[in-house]
Amino acid sequence: MGYKTLCFGFSCILLAYCLYSPIPENIEEPWKVRFTDTLIKVASHMAILFEKIGLMKYEKIFSTVATFYIVQAVSDENVTVIDTDFNNIPVRLYLPKRKPQRERPAVISIHGGIFVFGSCKVEAHDNLNRLTSNKLGAVVVGIDYRLAPQYPFPAALEDCVYVTKFFLQDKVLAKYRVDPSRICIMGDSSGGTLAATVTQLLRNDPEFKHRIKAQALIYPGLQMIDTFLPSHREYGHGPILHREMMLRVASLYVTKDSSLTQALLRNEHMPEGSRHLFKFVNWSDFLPEKYKKNHVYTEPVLGKWNASYPALLDSRLFPLLVNDSQLQNLPLTYILSCEHDLLRDDSFIYITRLRNVGVQVIHEHIEEGVHGALSFTMGTLALHLGFKIRDMYIHWLEENL
Ligand SMILES: *[C@@H]1O[C@H](CO)[C@@H](O)[C@H](O)[C@H]1NC(C)=O
Ligand SMILES: *[C@@H]1O[C@H](CO)[C@@H](O)[C@H](O)[C@H]1NC(C)=O
Ligand SMILES: *[C@@H]1O[C@H](CO)[C@@H](O)[C@H](O)[C@H]1NC(C)=O
Ligand SMILES: *[C@@H]1O[C@H](CO)[C@@H](O)[C@H](O)[C@H]1NC(C)=O
Repeated sequence: MGYKTLCFGFSCILLAYCLYSPIPENIEEPWKVRFTDTLIKVASHMAILFEKIGLMKYEKIFSTVATFYIVQAVSDENVTVIDTDFNNIPVRLYLPKRKPQRERPAVISIHGGIFVFGSCKVEAHDNLNRLTSNKLGAVVVGIDYRLAPQYPFPAALEDCVYVTKFFLQDKVLAKYRVDPSRICIMGDSSGGTLAATVTQLLRNDPEFKHRIKAQALIYPGLQMIDTFLPSHREYGHGPILHREMMLRVASLYVTKDSSLTQALLRNEHMPEGSRHLFKFVNWSDFLPEKYKKNHVYTEPVLGKWNASYPALLDSRLFPLLVNDSQLQNLPLTYILSCEHDLLRDDSFIYITRLRNVGVQVIHEHIEEGVHGALSFTMGTLALHLGFKIRDMYIHWLEENL
């Protein structure tokens, strides 16, 4: 009886939450999005509670759920899939079985998960990489980089840079019959952060200057020095990605000190002497008028938080922190952004800055889009939007790689 009452109570709370969850009007499959959003919110509340009573760390609930979706490396009639490593960094390779008429293109793929959870072996990513390999006849390299909080910044980035450089060696490209002039690096969400940074670092490295033909960034996060952009204000409560949850988890990439989360939430986390960086992310200069709406630019408060982490000033943490000369000569860039996404403005700012220095950018913006949909292409929670994003990205690769 007690158990049934409890279940009934829990279902009522879930339903009430679901009904209450406001979501934007033009979203496709509103009930599915609302339900997923509710699950994430409830999980987040439970995680806060569990952390308070000392049961488990906040992020554990999300990383545990992500591991449920890990799948084995299974080859099919078109693609050979192998788990291996590039000098101890685990990678999953997708090798087309079809005999190529000429050397193959390649895609280096970096998964999202706020630097704390996820894997290239999670079903949705495995499926995306397999499909990319099959459709393009491409070699795809999924990187299983190290995750925070166990391995904080710059571990994830170092792994991605290492794997990319390893793969770009002549002998490795020759082994997989890859055409060195047709290589793309891609990432979604925090994977997009990493992909953008790897692309910048390699571009400014004389040895690898011409080795990446294109970068594809899907709703990437590109800065965290100003956490009060118009899109943060409008979509801080989701759907799918929430400001508080994102900042709690993302801060673990920098430190386990939870006072960073609080400072980030108040936009008071940057130290004295960092004002020169704000011109790189100043939305009142870079955002199209349409997205400024009636928001008023407020400068972040500097020097209020008494701890300081050098990582917060490091452009290897957030690719928007480089100056214009470091953006010049970046390769062809594809950016896909979603309207109902608190990271939306990061994309718009990067696009403006890249175009200002003459980088060729192809931008696709989905008006009814929500963050993270690419991860919802499997099972009952699959969204049409997820398939749409996947197909847009693969189509772009087919035309441009
Ligand atoms: C193999 O490729 C063909 C042609 O693209 C496709 O129709 C088929 O579904 C693929 N098989 C698998 C298992 O993905
Ligand atoms: C941001 O841009 C606005 C408008 O151009 C300007 O008034 C402000 O000083 C800028 N702030 C910073 C920190 O660059
Ligand atoms: C920072 O401030 C908090 C409270 O405002 C205080 O508890 C803490 O000791 C301070 N830390 C340092 C390093 O000054
Ligand atoms: C841009 O940054 C690089 C590396 O920090 C520096 O060497 C260069 O002088 C800067 N360029 C400008 C125009 O500020």
